[in-house]
Amino acid sequence: MGAIKSQIKDGEKFIGSFDRQILIAQIGSIGLMSRECGLKIEDQIVLDAGCGFGTRSMIFALLGAKKVYSVDVDKVRLNGLKSHLESWELSYHPLKNIEIAISEVQSFSPALAPTLIYSNEIISHLWNREEFYNHSYEILSKGGTLYISDTNNSLNKRISSHREALWREAEAPKGTIYEGRKRFIKSNFPEFKDSEIDYLTMNTCYQKPDEIIEAVKYYIDEEKLKKESSFIEDRAPFDPEYDFLPCEGLIDFFETKAYLEKLGFKVELFPHFCGAKRPILRPINSFSRLFPLMFSLRYARAVHIVATKCS
Ligand SMILES: C[S@@+](CC[C@H](N)C(=O)[O-])C[C@H]1O[C@@H](n2cnc3c(N)ncnc32)[C@H](O)[C@@H]1O
Repeated sequence: MGAIKSQIKDGEKFIGSFDRQILIAQIGSIGLMSRECGLKIEDQIVLDAGCGFGTRSMIFALLGAKKVYSVDVDKVRLNGLKSHLESWELSYHPLKNIEIAISEVQSFSPALAPTLIYSNEIISHLWNREEFYNHSYEILSKGGTLYISDTNNSLNKRISSHREALWREAEAPKGTIYEGRKRFIKSNFPEFKDSEIDYLTMNTCYQKPDEIIEAVKYYIDEEKLKKESSFIEDRAPFDPEYDFLPCEGLIDFFETKAYLEKLGFKVELFPHFCGAKRPILRPINSFSRLFPLMFSLRYARAVHIVATKCS
């Protein structure tokens, strides 16, 4: 989607210039995480899940983490991190503790068991979040922490209606996602009439490229789709311009908490009114934590989860 493209553009600019404001905000967010989890970064084995351009991984390493696994599916972003690391003299430098892995985080198995899995703005991108939670529980060291921070708080009505409106717009004919899927089908099956392409586009939402190809081949043989898969209003569609990964979805943090507790985590939720670089929000954040979660989560933009593996 457009938002992802502009994020990549911002990222490229950032890689080039190390934007001071962003850096300060990221250091601030790691400081806050460290307080919320009650842990020091020093000597941690950190898995930076969906690390993006990896600036936070670099901050973890510079703060003394013993090992940092920087994991992401996006080669372009990881290459940004790689070229940064290559430009440093690493032999005696803490940044040498960073190990880059191009992988889906829900299937990445590090050599050392992480003591901290840090995930900032990634769970809203995952189609199957439970898989990520299960895997995190499996690979974390005993007593280790899974930290989750995300702004797609479904309990905040303003956020959820904004996000759902974006999906609707992108999935409507002429919308970016609809048109992207249509182009994909057209380029693979140029023989179809426009009306057929529209029917197929409309009914192959939530499918990966190989599934779409398979569905269309079935349609050619049987003159119907095996299963129509059309857009559902409250479910994030897949973005063809971004490797058919799901667009940012919404998260019910109470449900997430219940799921993590069932797995065996001890879980705390923190409402968060964003902006680590805006000092005015610090007292607001502290104040908001005095209210019952049922109330504050309806207004908070982001939510932080601290999940500790008990056994
Ligand atoms: C919004 S960015 C956040 C990046 C970084 N955590 C930060 O806060 O700056 C989401 C990142 O998650 C990555 N991502 C999405 N799905 C993933 C998956 N299944 N495994 C690993 N990374 C994933 C994307 O490639 C992207 O870099």
